[in-house]
Amino acid sequence: MRVILAPMEGVVDHLMRDLLTAQGGFDLCVTEFLRVVDQLYPERSFFKICPELANGAKTPSGVPVRIQLLGQSPEWLAENAARAVALGSPGIDLNFGCPAKTVNRNKGGSVLLKEPETLYAIIREVRQAVPAHQPVTAKIRLGYDDTSLMLENARAIEAAGATELAVHARTKRDGYRPPAYWEQIALIRSEIGLNVIANGEIWSSDDAKRCQAVSGSTDLMIGRGALACPSLAAAIKGLAPKAPWEAVQALLKRYSQFEIRGDKGLYYPNRLKQWLQFLRLQYPEAEALFQKVRTLSDKEAMLESINP
Ligand SMILES: Cc1cc2nc3c(=O)[nH]c(=O)nc-3n(C[C@H](O)[C@H](O)[C@H](O)COP(=O)(O)O)c2cc1C
Repeated sequence: MRVILAPMEGVVDHLMRDLLTAQGGFDLCVTEFLRVVDQLYPERSFFKICPELANGAKTPSGVPVRIQLLGQSPEWLAENAARAVALGSPGIDLNFGCPAKTVNRNKGGSVLLKEPETLYAIIREVRQAVPAHQPVTAKIRLGYDDTSLMLENARAIEAAGATELAVHARTKRDGYRPPAYWEQIALIRSEIGLNVIANGEIWSSDDAKRCQAVSGSTDLMIGRGALACPSLAAAIKGLAPKAPWEAVQALLKRYSQFEIRGDKGLYYPNRLKQWLQFLRLQYPEAEALFQKVRTLSDKEAMLESINP
């Protein structure tokens, strides 16, 4: 079984990848998306979204980090994919799931699920631009408004030469509302030969088992569940039990040191609140801490709350 850390724009940056992969259980991370319109980005843009490139594209605990691109132009995506891989990204992931309005207006993300032929053109062009031994992976939802093109999209992705496919088991219209329709993943799997990674609403080891049983997929991708329970990947693999609050508290302290040292220092209070909002789903202590810091905007005051 592989467990992959889901890409989460504005939440899972290299600092969070460092913290989460240090808890064990993860086999791969995918970066926040780099949006490609009509240019070949300079090298620094790839390092910005994936500082791990300077470390062989691995987190400090040695987990590979793959760059994700989002866009609609096969040519520009291919050029940027080639550069990302040349800089060390272990393959390329293509985002066809993003529901954001601005992204969809510019024809990137989930809106492309309405156009199987565009999915095909993009993956084919990127596949040709990236050395054959490097994976080209795709991440989709079940569809845009509905699932009517789901199987056609999956077939197009396979025919274009993708290496594997991650499926967030909801349509764009479903947003992030539970449930995730894992049974639809089983349908996709019966239609194509590609390895399919199941994603959506995995919050516990039990969810992971049920998702595997219902979808038929062995490999899983987890996002919000890992933010709510940083030891989730290790727990899913049976490597460690759910971490106690004290261990999570130590992570919050480490995160604080990171954020304050890093260039995101200014954002620290908001980032911390954002993380606590996930953690409080699993830890009552995080709820109490969140209530304590929610009105604070001062970095020092927040640090004081974490280190009473
Ligand atoms: C705040 C946020 C940001 C996200 N950013 C991305 C992204 O950059 N690329 C992407 O493919 N998916 C993105 N997603 C979707 C997640 O990767 C994942 O598919 C989704 O959260 C469902 O999985 P989960 O239930 O394990 O969280 C994002 C989701 C959230 C909540």
